[in-house]
Amino acid sequence: MLSLSNLELALGLVLTATGSLVAAGPCDLYSSGGTPCVAAHSTTRALYSAFSGSLYQVKRGSDNTTTSIAPLSAGGVANGTAQDSFCTGTTCLITIIYDQSGRGNHLTQAPPGGFQGPEANGYDSLASATGAPVTLNGHKAYGVFISPGTGYRNDKVSGTATGDAAEGMYAVLDGTHYNGGCCFDYGNAETNNLDTGNGHMEAIYFGDSTTWGTGSGSGPWLMADLENGLFSGVSPANNPGDPSITSRFFTAIVKGKPNQWALRGANAASGSLSTYYSGVRPNKTGYNPMSKEGAIILGIGGDNSVSAQGTFYEGVMTSGYPTDDTENSVQADIVAAKYATTSLTSGPALTVGSSISLRATTAGYTTRYLAHTGATVNTQVVSSSSTTALKQQASWTVRTGLGNSACYSFESKDTPGSYIRHNNFVLVLNASDSSKQFKEDATFCSSAGMNGQGNSIRAWGYPTKHVRHYTNVSYIATNGGLNTFDAAASYNDDVSWVASTSFA
Ligand SMILES: *[C@@H]1O[C@H](CO)[C@@H](O)[C@H](O)[C@H]1NC(C)=O
Ligand SMILES: *[C@@H]1O[C@H](CO)[C@@H](O)[C@H](O)[C@H]1NC(C)=O
Ligand SMILES: *[C@@H]1O[C@H](CO)[C@@H](O)[C@H](O)[C@H]1NC(C)=O
Ligand SMILES: *[C@@H]1O[C@H](CO)[C@@H](O)[C@H](O)[C@H]1NC(C)=O
Ligand SMILES: *[C@@H]1O[C@H](CO)[C@@H](O)[C@H](O)[C@H]1NC(C)=O
Repeated sequence: MLSLSNLELALGLVLTATGSLVAAGPCDLYSSGGTPCVAAHSTTRALYSAFSGSLYQVKRGSDNTTTSIAPLSAGGVANGTAQDSFCTGTTCLITIIYDQSGRGNHLTQAPPGGFQGPEANGYDSLASATGAPVTLNGHKAYGVFISPGTGYRNDKVSGTATGDAAEGMYAVLDGTHYNGGCCFDYGNAETNNLDTGNGHMEAIYFGDSTTWGTGSGSGPWLMADLENGLFSGVSPANNPGDPSITSRFFTAIVKGKPNQWALRGANAASGSLSTYYSGVRPNKTGYNPMSKEGAIILGIGGDNSVSAQGTFYEGVMTSGYPTDDTENSVQADIVAAKYATTSLTSGPALTVGSSISLRATTAGYTTRYLAHTGATVNTQVVSSSSTTALKQQASWTVRTGLGNSACYSFESKDTPGSYIRHNNFVLVLNASDSSKQFKEDATFCSSAGMNGQGNSIRAWGYPTKHVRHYTNVSYIATNGGLNTFDAAASYNDDVSWVASTSFA
């Protein structure tokens, strides 16, 4: 006989306190399945049908004030419009990702550990609030775009699994945003930010690292970061049953209990979960029994390894080992949320195939244009009476983004095949070597100019960083930061460029 909770689970509905049946959220489904959420994080939507509190907090660069973004209605999609209006004409960072479970397991800027982050005192960077726009059932919302150096953490947790205790977790990720760095993770990690040994973590990993385990094909893969190893199955090396992921939106599941764990995944926009591995713990010392510590990480490894990238939209951790049926209902709920892509650019349109020159808008520099001298990308004073050579140096052909077709690349007019790319946050002109790294570093997304003129042009892979002139050299820069070229003074002007038909 079906119990009420199993009936609710089967129907994907939940009985509210006032007696009405409403569509269940993921955490309602885990609860009905007897494995409640102990942490629930999402910048895109409520994960309980009754949740109407704050989903996340953003801080804007113009005055350092913060605001919290809530769902449009209980159980609904984040109010992306509220973020858009708060962040107009300035930069915005995600400062807190609230825990919806009521346990206070919020995620904030990760502190240094075995590895240092790039910010003051070794903290990790915060994510841009605008790097990962999406729609859910047609409503605009934003995910958490993790660039290398970015990370969130909570070391003072309540209710997460420790030792060999059972837990489950899922996350909805961007299946096309990844790298081979260590480690784009979400889940259970050390409470002291250090590598404390095999079996001290149990987290979702997504990327194409081949340092530890691998799956079939060339990746990216879902694996479990169990500390000192990314595992795709029982073998510490390779599980051919763990597929390369190709879907834009990806549901990733890791769960574990004494000498048993599983990896499951699905296209988050359609279809159902497949099991990539379900069986005993890896046959390697330290992973059976596990020694989980219960901290929660996002975007980093347990020892604060910070070289990975990826995008997180939503995820939870549970108490207890969820059944496959419960997870199947959660996947159906994710599909029903209808994740879809939306434009990565806004403001004055740049036309692919056109040739443009980009004029600085900072007072005193308005005769200077984005140009190059050899490999150096700089600004130079250019006019209709300049030499042809100089005009060509300040002329760029707008191309479809080499690393993301929703954005742009800028090909040199006088050096075809060479593009503007960033390298250690300095812009250089270089020939494409066709690597994934080159393509991504040569991809830029435009929006309305921060100072109200023209366009601001952010690095696709580092959406906190915009193309900026500083001492007449060009960088990608954050609005305030440790590099001299990140200076907050004059930022909005230095990152705003007016495009016109090219000089040459
Ligand atoms: C914002 O805070 C940072 C760091 O505390 C500070 O350097 C900066 O001047 C502040 N900006 C504004 C506009 O208050
Ligand atoms: C969304 O945010 C905007 C701007 O803050 C606000 O005016 C609007 O009422 C909010 N919508 C809902 C449904 O709360
Ligand atoms: C674990 O691996 C070792 C070394 O490869 C092997 O001798 C042992 O039989 C394996 N144990 C199990 C339970 O598979
Ligand atoms: C930078 O450009 C400004 C304005 O054109 C000019 O006054 C200044 O001398 C230049 N600085 C350098 C270091 O080239
Ligand atoms: C340009 O690309 C070549 C080949 O990929 C590389 O060796 C060189 O370091 C690059 N130069 C700059 C300035 O990035």
